[in-house]
Amino acid sequence: MCGITGYIGGDKTTDVLIDGLRRLEYRGYDSCGLAAVDSKNSLYLKRVSGRVDALDKLVAEDPVKGARAGVGHTRWATHGAPSEDNAHPHTDCSGQVVVVHNGIIENYLELKDRLLASGHKFRSETDTEVIAHLLEEKLRSLNVQAAAVRSDLLEPVFFEAFRRTVGDLKGSFALSAVWSRCPGMLLAARMHSPLVVGLGEDENFIASDVSAFLKYTKRVVFLNDGELAAVRRDGVDYYNFAGKKTAKDSVTIQWDSTMAEKGGYKHFMLKEIHEQAEAVENTLRGRLLPLGGDILRTEVGLSAADLKAFSSVQFLACGTAHHAGLVGRALFENFGIPAYADVASEFSDRAKLTGKGALVVAVSQSGETADTLFAVREAKASGARVLAITNTVGSTLTRESDYVLYTHCGPEIGVASTKAFLGQLAAIYLLAGHFAAARGRLPGGDARRYAEDLLKVPRLIEETLEKEKEIARVAETFSSSDHFLFISRHVNYPIALEGALKIKEIAYVHAEGYPAGEMKHGPIAIIYKGMPVLAIAPSGRALELMAGNIEEAKARGADVVAVVDPSSRKLVKASRYITLPEVSELFSPLLTVIPLQIFAYYVALAKKCDIDKPRNLAKSVTVR
Ligand code: AGP
Repeated sequence: MCGITGYIGGDKTTDVLIDGLRRLEYRGYDSCGLAAVDSKNSLYLKRVSGRVDALDKLVAEDPVKGARAGVGHTRWATHGAPSEDNAHPHTDCSGQVVVVHNGIIENYLELKDRLLASGHKFRSETDTEVIAHLLEEKLRSLNVQAAAVRSDLLEPVFFEAFRRTVGDLKGSFALSAVWSRCPGMLLAARMHSPLVVGLGEDENFIASDVSAFLKYTKRVVFLNDGELAAVRRDGVDYYNFAGKKTAKDSVTIQWDSTMAEKGGYKHFMLKEIHEQAEAVENTLRGRLLPLGGDILRTEVGLSAADLKAFSSVQFLACGTAHHAGLVGRALFENFGIPAYADVASEFSDRAKLTGKGALVVAVSQSGETADTLFAVREAKASGARVLAITNTVGSTLTRESDYVLYTHCGPEIGVASTKAFLGQLAAIYLLAGHFAAARGRLPGGDARRYAEDLLKVPRLIEETLEKEKEIARVAETFSSSDHFLFISRHVNYPIALEGALKIKEIAYVHAEGYPAGEMKHGPIAIIYKGMPVLAIAPSGRALELMAGNIEEAKARGADVVAVVDPSSRKLVKASRYITLPEVSELFSPLLTVIPLQIFAYYVALAKKCDIDKPRNLAKSVTVR
């Protein structure tokens, strides 16, 4: 998956493109490039196998003159190794057409064979280059000779050739093209990959997501699958792939570009860890009271009657989002409501068993994760209704779901998910509370108490974050450890999994999360002297058993760091402690995950890892 951006407007084209690519680098960063139409209507093209800084340097050494329209791309290789030749933008044989693309063209080989047979010369191994040559072929089929076309026909010809090109493509694409003979118009198309238009004053933008141009405009239009945009300096027209003009509403994004900056933190990840209280608060805002009433009807489309009627809840997600789903399952079961949580890529067999009465809850920060989207389609085919919990307005998941409950976390730039996870948990606690209250299943039947406890969490998160330096000190003592074990029970077992995932993905170290009760069934054999074991042991019904598990681990030489609260601290005999504020066991995952995020961050920092852009990972995995 990659990041694309495009601009049409004044003479700051390459500055805007470079700026946008920097903000999109988290989507992929093995190579990048940009192209622009200069004042002589020639195509200016620069590409590098490397990051945007290298591209910026290349452009500065040989600046374009008088550019008014251009496209940019930062790549996450799917077809063809990272290299300059495989970097986008890609051109046709004439060097007049240029294309950037995010997605996978499934029929590119058959198209490429046909184009090669008709004499096209390819320079890359990518699927994307096929699009540039296809566009060239369509222009030719519309009798576009060297100078034959009257200037007022250039745009309709370019549009029609682009539309026909898009019609030949199968697969997923967020696509933008520029033709040097038609510098007044930039074209874009969307199918199964995110694409958004930014509306400026006498300038307009396209990008994979809004963070690329938030600095310039907050007015955006989200393209849907099967839509095209003809972007000119003075306006944008929208069409379906059949060429029928469509009307599109713009929305105003509340994020400003500073939200997407690091805000003084060393890494986006640390900034986002510190934004978690706000993320939870914003996600709960205006949605809690009266608990179990119709408050979700207007925004989400779920009435109290709907909440009562569903027979079960089935969480679907990947990675960290799956861990949120596992907390959700424990929560709903705690309220006596049948619930399941599956890794999306393993859902196929269960999909057939997911009956019409189930509510499928698809959890996805990006709303573009291919595995999750695929599982949602399978669930819908079985007749289930789908609620999306996502952080991304206008994402594909939102348009394929029956209901949408947005987390309001703001942009999460760090590849390792932190505030988005807390936002997902907040949304799940919100949803579970409404479900339970509507069915009279809240503990003690006390809806107000549940809501009040939940509303206290943001302040408790802030208190927990004050422990950062203390947690950092503990983490630094383990920065050379080769293995980590995370253990807990019940509603905190998913937090053990999440703690292990965080260390794996940003510190590149082996770690496992385990139900503490399972240790005696084998895993305890791996414990060696000095092995770091992180035990999540807040007060609650699991505490006695957790205290025993900690003793067992210590007896075998483990160096146990216990995540406790002041009460459970008295019962647990660990090597070191991270003490959190008191909170009921039910809500404890909203706090216990935070020290594990900070712990992983400081282990990775000590190991000098690239924390915001970990190797081999991308922020949103839009391929299966
Ligand atoms: C978590 O830190 C990872 N970035 C990854 O596991 C992520 O949670 C997963 O890919 C799901 O992404 P989504 O929430 O955008 O669907």
